[in-house]
Amino acid sequence: MKASIVVLPGDGIGPEVASAGVAVLRQIATRFGHEFTFAEHAIGGDAIDRFGDPLPPQTREALLAADAVLLGAVGGPKWSDPNAPVRPEQGLLAMRKLLGVFANVRPLKLHPRTAALSPLKPERTKGVDLVFIRELTGGIYFGAKTRSEHDATDECRYSVEEIERVVRHAFALARTRRRKVTSVDKANVLETSRLWRSVATRVAADFPDVALEHQLVDSMAMHLLTRPADYDVIVTENMFGDILTDEASVLAGSLGLSPSASIGGPGAGVYEPIHGSAPDIAGQSLANPLGTILSAAMLLRHSLGLTEEAAAVEAAVDHVLEHADLTRDLGGTATTHAVTRAVIEACNAKA
Ligand code: NAI
Ligand code: MG
Repeated sequence: MKASIVVLPGDGIGPEVASAGVAVLRQIATRFGHEFTFAEHAIGGDAIDRFGDPLPPQTREALLAADAVLLGAVGGPKWSDPNAPVRPEQGLLAMRKLLGVFANVRPLKLHPRTAALSPLKPERTKGVDLVFIRELTGGIYFGAKTRSEHDATDECRYSVEEIERVVRHAFALARTRRRKVTSVDKANVLETSRLWRSVATRVAADFPDVALEHQLVDSMAMHLLTRPADYDVIVTENMFGDILTDEASVLAGSLGLSPSASIGGPGAGVYEPIHGSAPDIAGQSLANPLGTILSAAMLLRHSLGLTEEAAAVEAAVDHVLEHADLTRDLGGTATTHAVTRAVIEACNAKA
């Protein structure tokens, strides 16, 4: 098949991990006879430096025409002055709005070798295989904001439609897995959460084969550490999801391992590792590329419908996690390039 993929390298280690993802996708295209084209565009701090805009018009135009988007990471100390007129993260929020990607999907599965690096005891992390679905384009991050000398406000608003579409996504995904959805809210305090809970309950009636449980966000934060293996699909609103997914990522042993997909819009989905631009290790070939490579696998599956190709990448990553020298965050000495090469070789070996 033919596919045009927009690559947004971004800042810090973003370009290093994005090029690892592209290298693996090129390899998959060769092996399976596809024609992928890659077009690089600016986002974040890099785009501010070059165009004065964290999501310049030419990037927007390319995003709207793409089949899928592979993103590195954005941000860094150079652009972090809170009073600066434009900030790199504005590029991310603008992109999510532009593409209408309302569901942020983050799978978390522990590999035995890296689970040893998890702060949790091995008996707690055994069998963890969950997916977070975080609502991405509504809630308090996008609500009206005011600030005066004396006070400030952030409005949290959700429509029935915004809740329903993301909750449906969670139920449909649970059907392909262990058939359990945990909906996370703060319904004992917040009106938006009470609406969220009632919509989730109504949607559940359309999925009688999937179990629904409601969980308050504060107790969810606790259960994620005490019994993470009990969860299958967890769906929640934007801010709760932001916080809980960071908490969950720690379970995997390294931030560098976890992929994500932002999907649900009419156009391209966005695939990116969950980590940031890691300025402390940028430019040294120390970055773990596996989170980006696994994001590329999600791109193949969700945006291009290439299931076998996605499985080939995931099997290659599993093989590397089992047998190869890994990057420093995983206790190894390998460079970004060496790990990427090992994944590409494992893709070939299985051919
Ligand atoms: P970070 O994820 O960039 O780094 C946290 C720690 O994890 C650092 O010690 C870093 O070296 C390490 N790390 C992260 N990714 C790694 C990888 N692939 N391989 C090996 N080690 C890795 O988070 P931090 O330091 O809080 O933020 C740095 C910048 O990134 C900030 O400007 C922040 O705003 C931005 N950021 C961007 C995100 C995005 O583009 N989606 C997400 C999170 C943060
Ligand atoms: Mg976050």
